[in-house]
Amino acid sequence: MSARIIDGVALGKVIRQEVAAEAAALKARGITPGLAVVLVGENPASKAYVGSKEKACLEAGMHSVKVTRPAEITEAELLAIVDQLNTDPTIHGILVQLPLPKHINTERVLLRINPAKDVDGFHPVNVGKLVIGDPTALKPCTPWGVIQMLTRNGIDTKGAHAVVIGRSTIVGKPMANLLIQQGPGGDATVTVCHSRTKDLPAVVRSADIVIAAIGKAEFVTADMVRDGAVVIDVGINRVDDASLPKGYKLVGDVAYAEVAAKASAITPVPGGVGPMTIAMLLANTLQAVKQSS
Ligand code: GUN
Repeated sequence: MSARIIDGVALGKVIRQEVAAEAAALKARGITPGLAVVLVGENPASKAYVGSKEKACLEAGMHSVKVTRPAEITEAELLAIVDQLNTDPTIHGILVQLPLPKHINTERVLLRINPAKDVDGFHPVNVGKLVIGDPTALKPCTPWGVIQMLTRNGIDTKGAHAVVIGRSTIVGKPMANLLIQQGPGGDATVTVCHSRTKDLPAVVRSADIVIAAIGKAEFVTADMVRDGAVVIDVGINRVDDASLPKGYKLVGDVAYAEVAAKASAITPVPGGVGPMTIAMLLANTLQAVKQSS
């Protein structure tokens, strides 16, 4: 089988256009959706992500605020910024870019964000709402983007065995929680694999849908994937490649060429899940606006 390619760039664009249309309608009623992104330090990957988020936000006609602070900022100063954004009526969504410097307690910062403005879906209130199936939950952007990729490409999750590889708070755990919810994009039978899983390849071979979010370059190989499986690759890994001007290439958690030859559908890296994350951030900001008014 040769896999259909699930195009995250194209779908991300569709969702951003939908968001832009709704944002324009809200603006006509005098409400401009506003997103604040807080960047601490000089991490190049974080800077690039934050730049893309700001650009997408402006393109969707939203109000965008970028707060940048040096890595030496104290936790108290960062908490004060969050407090100020929590009470700013022009801001409906707040995102504090992770990772934060080691001297700052990440949980304390995330807990300080008003759950109604928590467009990352990382606050325990939103995590809890997601688990119990409360539709007002703001859902983590990356796994919520994966659900959109499945549903909007006609991939039925109902009754399917979905195997999630990785148990991170940002992707693996919320991914599993989304897939077991009732309704479209849910109703799956879910297994979560991680570093302690016994015979992980055998578990992955039993999957109808594989979601790789383990952060290891080309970890999922063809022998681990059954014929006709749907493969979603959440990984973005830098691999040295002296033949390229940058000196590296980006690869996912899936050995793309060999797995694509076996799967029925697959997401590429880059151009797969990545662009969906930003689209869902905008969609979450819109959800936050609607729930606030
Ligand atoms: N760093 C990497 N991914 C994310 C994300 O989805 N949200 C935030 N806040 N930081 C990140």
